[in-house]
Amino acid sequence: MIGRFVGASVALFGIAAYGSYKINEAKQYKELYFDTLPDKRQYLLQQHQNAAYVYDQTFDSYEQTSKITSYRKTIVGLCSGKILETGVGTSRNLKYYPQGSDVTAVDWSSNVLEVALLKSASNINISYRLEDVENMSFKDNTFDTVLDTFGLEYYLNPEKAISEMKRVCKPGRQDIITHIWQKHL
Ligand SMILES: C[S@@+](CC[C@H](N)C(=O)[O-])C[C@H]1O[C@@H](n2cnc3c(N)ncnc32)[C@H](O)[C@@H]1O
Repeated sequence: MIGRFVGASVALFGIAAYGSYKINEAKQYKELYFDTLPDKRQYLLQQHQNAAYVYDQTFDSYEQTSKITSYRKTIVGLCSGKILETGVGTSRNLKYYPQGSDVTAVDWSSNVLEVALLKSASNINISYRLEDVENMSFKDNTFDTVLDTFGLEYYLNPEKAISEMKRVCKPGRQDIITHIWQKHL
């Protein structure tokens, strides 16, 4: 009996250790691989293009069961005036905008914008544009609110993206840039 217990424990420990070793190995490989890419922007863009049509199915139930949905409601409800949403993805914030909102939403992936365009919201005015958030075509001081949810970690140069968000936001108005790690939810 004790022998079996010890055997099972050793086996479980072995599986856990091997699993963690493999995960680490994959992480290191990914980092090394990414560093050697000649065109990182093109690689990242392609990742987003590929994920577009499965993005909502992947995250719908996860967001419902975590606190993300209520977090989106709260944050998006704070937006006012002329709003810019950066890295809008499949427009998962759409239904949380206050009635009458005037939103310009940008992303660099044409596929995610295609999915976003299929969603409708009759109570707000929203237009989608293909833009690189690190180099946007808007004039300085155009928007009252700039909203970014879960985008920062995906931008190749997040500092450049933030400085662009600041540039297009009117002085004294609000940038709402959010990035929440899962462990904080
Ligand atoms: C994880 S998704 C977040 C989508 C959405 N903000 C949300 O809350 O569900 C990140 C998005 O950022 C976009 N993105 C990444 N780099 C970008 C860039 N340089 N310019 C514009 N969009 C970018 C991706 O195409 C993707 O749609």
